[in-house]
Amino acid sequence: MANTLGIVKPDGVRRKLVGKILTKIEEAGLILRGLKVLKLTKVDAEKFYAVHEGKPFYKPLVEFMTSGPIVVMVIGGHASIERWRDVMGATDPAKARYNTIRRDYGTSIEKNVVHGSDSPETARMEVAFFFREDEILPKEAK
Ligand code: RTP
Ligand code: MG
Repeated sequence: MANTLGIVKPDGVRRKLVGKILTKIEEAGLILRGLKVLKLTKVDAEKFYAVHEGKPFYKPLVEFMTSGPIVVMVIGGHASIERWRDVMGATDPAKARYNTIRRDYGTSIEKNVVHGSDSPETARMEVAFFFREDEILPKEAK
């Protein structure tokens, strides 16, 4: 029952899609355990996406992720990592399954509305990047 990190990227916040995305999370039976609105600094965005450093899309990605407010979420529930990625859809909205967030709302491979951790290890790191332990609803909370 590990938690995962979700982000509504600047395009999603700008286009007022936060409510729709939260509804998708709730309807999928995933559990919201943490939620914040913030604007990433360039230094933090570079750190968060350090695994992509050197790739052609790294600089534009950092630029885009700092272009406006984002919403960061701790998402829990059974198989949360895989299931949140399933609700998001493939990276490229044009290739994402129907009825996924990226298929429904994404406008390009960069402006793909949401982020999700891709493994238990990155989920742990990414959740800790944005949330202190005491800012996350414990699993036993009802
Ligand atoms: P994310 O990390 O945002 O959840 O997306 P992902 O795992 O599906 O994709 P990843 O390979 O981790 O890439 C991170 C983000 O970089 C942008 N990207 N642009 N122009 C390109 O070819 C390209 N490839 C990736 C996307 O915004 C992607 O979500
Ligand atoms: Mg990724």
